[in-house]
Amino acid sequence: MTSASPPTPATTTAELLARLAAHHADTHQHSLRVARLAVALAENAGVALRLGDKLGEAAQLHDIGKLAIPAALLNKTGGLSAGERTRFQRHTHDGATLLAPIAGAVLAQAIAQNHHERWDGSGYPSGLCREAIPLGARLVALADVYDALRAPRAYKDGRTHPEVLATMTRMNQQFDPNLLTVFLVKEARIAQTYDKVQS
Ligand SMILES: [Fe+2]
Ligand SMILES: [Fe+2]
Repeated sequence: MTSASPPTPATTTAELLARLAAHHADTHQHSLRVARLAVALAENAGVALRLGDKLGEAAQLHDIGKLAIPAALLNKTGGLSAGERTRFQRHTHDGATLLAPIAGAVLAQAIAQNHHERWDGSGYPSGLCREAIPLGARLVALADVYDALRAPRAYKDGRTHPEVLATMTRMNQQFDPNLLTVFLVKEARIAQTYDKVQS
């Protein structure tokens, strides 16, 4: 299950998203919600203009490297072995590799590569800190963790909005503090956005 296989190249982001929907519906739905949440956060933080109109599509592609992970592993209910964890973590690099040759996917590539980096440097794949992490990836990191905690998955129940906010507040060192503040102040808008796209 953990043998490495490089992702098959594509020529458009639409092709990649269609492949993700066919490969793993949960990850595709997660990606749609994360994109809406990231755009809502960017608008409320006043940084949407800096990122341009591609943020939504770019955020939708943040986990595109999971195309290279077998669905059985994506659905695994038990704990992961060290090899499986490494395989999961490689979706950042694989996503960036898939997006690199596609015209107009520069932001998407940066987000795919860096959305698991953490403000305090404890993330992966490069251990980047603070503003060294691209802004788009810092936004998606918040949206990603929110959705990962709220949404039920094959292997866990989802948590409530207040529970997720409390957890993210405890995890505060991993997030851009300014963006986290906006996220918590505008939490009602975040909850509305999640509920709207949740289906
Ligand atoms: Fe990811
Ligand atoms: Fe994700």
